[in-house]
Amino acid sequence: MTTVIDGKKAAASVIEAVTRAATDLEKDTGRRPGLAVVLVGTDPASQTYVASKSRMAKECGFTSVQHTLSEETTQEALMALVAELNADPSVDGVLVQLPLPKHLDSEKVIQSILPEKDVDGLHVVNAGKLATGDSETGLVSCTPAGAMILVRSIHGRDLSGLNALVIGRSNLFGKPMAQLLLAANATVTIGHSRSRDLPALARNADILVAAVGRPEMVKADWVKPGATVIDVGINRIAAPERGEGRTRLVGDVAFPECAPVAGAISPVPGGVGPMTIAMLMANTVIAAYRAEGKPAPKF
Ligand code: GUN
Repeated sequence: MTTVIDGKKAAASVIEAVTRAATDLEKDTGRRPGLAVVLVGTDPASQTYVASKSRMAKECGFTSVQHTLSEETTQEALMALVAELNADPSVDGVLVQLPLPKHLDSEKVIQSILPEKDVDGLHVVNAGKLATGDSETGLVSCTPAGAMILVRSIHGRDLSGLNALVIGRSNLFGKPMAQLLLAANATVTIGHSRSRDLPALARNADILVAAVGRPEMVKADWVKPGATVIDVGINRIAAPERGEGRTRLVGDVAFPECAPVAGAISPVPGGVGPMTIAMLMANTVIAAYRAEGKPAPKF
């Protein structure tokens, strides 16, 4: 029987541990973890994401502040806000929602966040710490950290002898995911649009992680029988069967045909998605413990 990995349940258990850690910290120091989320412009998807991040932060017992700037905000104004949040001791985590409007240089903004407050794990210092195996002082990008918890729920912490394929090589997901799998002793391949034979690479993978942003690209004959398949894609496609103009969410994996072949598979929605926000909360409470000079909880 194929295991359908329950991301909602895994996320709820992370959130419970984060909430407990936040309560303990407040009892101990009188201070709550603080998360500042910055949104520039009015992109509806970003508004939804930011609202759920702020809501979840409150549910975890954090101080949550949202800064909404207009579409016309200048680079200087945005960088000045980040500098202000960097200097504010009540703020442990700073998240600037991406993508930013085109006239802004996102890389410059992200790299101006203090690495110890970079709860998105996107600062080069945090990427470097992950690559060099420093899990004690670095912060790991939320989606790969969450996907890794799902992998662990199936295989445990030691992936020795297992072949893993990550499809996608972004800084936000593919590269950090590959580093996490490598740190857990998997034999890791990164596949991408210029790879020669992705289906063949995939058929060799005991752990197949898809993050390409192409709806249902991974087919049943890509999946090694019994493999663990983690689907990171969130694609909205037309769903005329639900009525005119209706849409539905699908991942990068053709779930109905791949599920019977896989040993374990994460669905979309309800797989990796809920883990991303949970790991943002985890990173924020970790940053708060470190700011107070206390050993941080592990997730
Ligand atoms: N936009 C989509 N995903 C993310 C994310 O993980 N972090 C940020 N900052 N923006 C995003």
